[in-house]
Amino acid sequence: MQDQYGREIDYVRISITDRCNLRCTYCMPEEGIEHYTSHTDILSYEEILRLVRCLASLGIKKIKLTGGEPLVRLGCADLVRELKAIDGIEQVTITTNGVLLEELAEDLISAGIDGINVSLDTVERDIFAKITRRDYFDKVMAGIEKVKSLQFKNLKINCVPIAQFNKNELVKLAAQAKDYPLAVRFIELMPIGLAQEYTAVSREEIMDMLTEDFGEMMPYEGTLGNGPAEYYSLPGFKGHIGFIGAIHNKFCGHCNRIRLTSSGFLKLCLNQNKGGDLAPILRSDASDEELTEAMRQLIYQKPLAHHFYEEDQNDTDSRQMFQVGG
Ligand code: 5AD
Ligand code: SF4
Repeated sequence: MQDQYGREIDYVRISITDRCNLRCTYCMPEEGIEHYTSHTDILSYEEILRLVRCLASLGIKKIKLTGGEPLVRLGCADLVRELKAIDGIEQVTITTNGVLLEELAEDLISAGIDGINVSLDTVERDIFAKITRRDYFDKVMAGIEKVKSLQFKNLKINCVPIAQFNKNELVKLAAQAKDYPLAVRFIELMPIGLAQEYTAVSREEIMDMLTEDFGEMMPYEGTLGNGPAEYYSLPGFKGHIGFIGAIHNKFCGHCNRIRLTSSGFLKLCLNQNKGGDLAPILRSDASDEELTEAMRQLIYQKPLAHHFYEEDQNDTDSRQMFQVGG
């Protein structure tokens, strides 16, 4: 369906849990998280499937499962299979930190997953431990290797370049796209929650470093995925390098997405609290038609653009990244 500004909304990012097995410094506090959604508040898989059936009738075609870390929730691959079976749903993908991927890759792929995005900020074990506060580097790399060994076609590695942590690691990370046709994507750090303490590395700086080591970066005209990433080819690389810059390359005008939190809040824009809580409707005796109509009205009101760094900050969402899933 179209929102009030004529944007075609066909993509929902669903956070299936706010729990995570890592503690990335820019995303989660070291300890004492008091905001976990309780087991009674979290949407059941049945509730998620019902919402998606209604969303599909509104023209949602693509789903990304996020977290927290989606793979810590049991039965995630079964959910993928059931989502894929819904009429109108063309694509189900997942964003994972990779810790449990070695164990679950086969299940996900046989369930029909269309894309796997692994968040990885460094290929150095020590720096990984410093960023994530956990010593799971080998597990993540084994997960990536497992996906490659299954010849999976749509693998992406997402890295958030941060001056304080991994600025000198980015060339090595990009080299992952050399021998396997995967995309390494650099995602601009957004000033949400704890991330406000850290400094993003600019796209220009990253491109200079990559060009120096690998040669000229040529814009890639083909399509890879359905988001706002801009891709480049590098000489001799089987894969591609992508950039997503929500702040410096504001893409709100083409935004095609909405977000659902694990407790059932339908969020219309990443950094704003606009949207509505669907849980009370889901848990009332409302019909599917009523639920669909409630979502149609919410989606229609999707705001024009994000307000990062603007004065009018009274609609900024207090939810943290681990509660939204990026
Ligand atoms: N800005 C940009 N990306 C972020 N992520 C977490 N916090 C931020 C932020 N403030 C990323 C993670 C992961 C994805 C789910 O979101 O690194 O790649
Ligand atoms: Fe879309 Fe909001 Fe993100 Fe802008 S900030 S691209 S409107 S979700």
